[in-house]
Amino acid sequence: MKQTYINELKNHIGESVVLKGWLYNSRSSGKLVFLQLRDGSGIVQCVVFKPNNEELFESAKSLGQESSIIVTGNVKEDARSPIGVEIDVTGLEVVQNAHDYPITPKEHGTEFLMDNRHLWIRSKKQNAVLKVRHTVIKAVRDFFDSNGFILADTPIFTPAACEGTTTLFEVDYFGDEKAYLTQSGQLYNEATAAAFGKSYAFGPTFRAEKSKTRRHLTEFWMVEPEVAYAHLEDMMDLGEGLILSIVERVLNERTEELETLERDTAKLEAIKSPFPRIHYDKAVEMLQEGHAKGELENRFEWGGDFGAPDETYLSNQFGTPIFVHRFPAAIKGFYFERDKDRPELALGIDLLAPEGYGEIIGGGERATDLEFLEKQLEEHNLPRESFEWYLDLRRFGSVPHSGFGMGIERCTAWMCGIEHVRETIPFPRMLYRLKP
Ligand code: 4AD
Ligand code: MG
Repeated sequence: MKQTYINELKNHIGESVVLKGWLYNSRSSGKLVFLQLRDGSGIVQCVVFKPNNEELFESAKSLGQESSIIVTGNVKEDARSPIGVEIDVTGLEVVQNAHDYPITPKEHGTEFLMDNRHLWIRSKKQNAVLKVRHTVIKAVRDFFDSNGFILADTPIFTPAACEGTTTLFEVDYFGDEKAYLTQSGQLYNEATAAAFGKSYAFGPTFRAEKSKTRRHLTEFWMVEPEVAYAHLEDMMDLGEGLILSIVERVLNERTEELETLERDTAKLEAIKSPFPRIHYDKAVEMLQEGHAKGELENRFEWGGDFGAPDETYLSNQFGTPIFVHRFPAAIKGFYFERDKDRPELALGIDLLAPEGYGEIIGGGERATDLEFLEKQLEEHNLPRESFEWYLDLRRFGSVPHSGFGMGIERCTAWMCGIEHVRETIPFPRMLYRLKP
């Protein structure tokens, strides 16, 4: 008989089905054994009644947590079941009887769970988070694909830094040449945008972040759109559209998972267009007011970069995502276009998510002028020869263009309402964590 998946059981009421999976949990009482079977698509209770088949009953009773089993049974409507059905077991094939599964239903510490991440991802909540991640990624791809963007992925081995030299991972590239793991595909996106008009890259990016925070991974996935003939305002429109379509998709397609995660969905439903757009000067004013009111410990000074408490304070003033735009050039990358009226400002944007999730999107308008960029490379101590190809983009058909990057893990953590980004990627890489 063909395998049926648990999430399709509702269409098979009254039928006999074959389910293939693992034993999530079990209990027995008198003549009954209740097997919680999971198959990746869901969990269903399978009931074994001793008088029906004694041998089958004993076999079911002997199973350890996470044993792999194939269950045959009848699908019965059951109002008490979270999925509306239950299985009356008529057959059981034990593929492997597992014993001493390390993750039991009791509480475990995070370090222990992280060491057992290869098993932990089978748990209900972790499973739900990773399914939300899947939907975030699907929403991102569909958004760009249906808006005329061409996917043009960028290299992971790169000869130069994009986002400052302090967070570069260096790798040995056949001895004499130095290579780094990419921090961002942006510089290459600028080339593909000139080829396709609108392009995006989606892939892993790397930062040797020495900070151990709930928002930082050393390997994370970033989606990066880049658009020719686009300006700063266009990027805020694009970023807003992207976020709205992700939120809508997650709310529609991951209702069950959000429930498992006990996500307060009202907070996501409240996310509406337009997102406030705040000048950096105004943000500084707000932060200084916050300090004066005793709501922020440190007084923020103009010129500084926002810390986590600053970002949280700013977004809390609105309860929706907000854009902050035009940052002091001194704290931004070499490639930013400057504000014409105030050249000390870089045409950058950050999108700050509500509920303390901080910066989800970072990007802006790129400098178009060859001489300006040559000077910038010098000031930032970047090796000119590694950037010659990039300068070509200003020699041959230079146009205004803009783009941004959105971190998949930070966005997923926000959608799920979970504390730490480490649970939003199947196998996180962080300071002090390279295993499993
Ligand atoms: O603000 P960032 O550094 O921007 C760039 O890399 C640009 N070159 C992107 C572009 O314009 N094409 O990073 C963009 C986003 C952040 O807003 C955040 O969501 C995520 O990437 N991010 C991280 N996520 C997890 N761990 C880290 N260490 C991250 N660093 C950045
Ligand atoms: Mg940033």
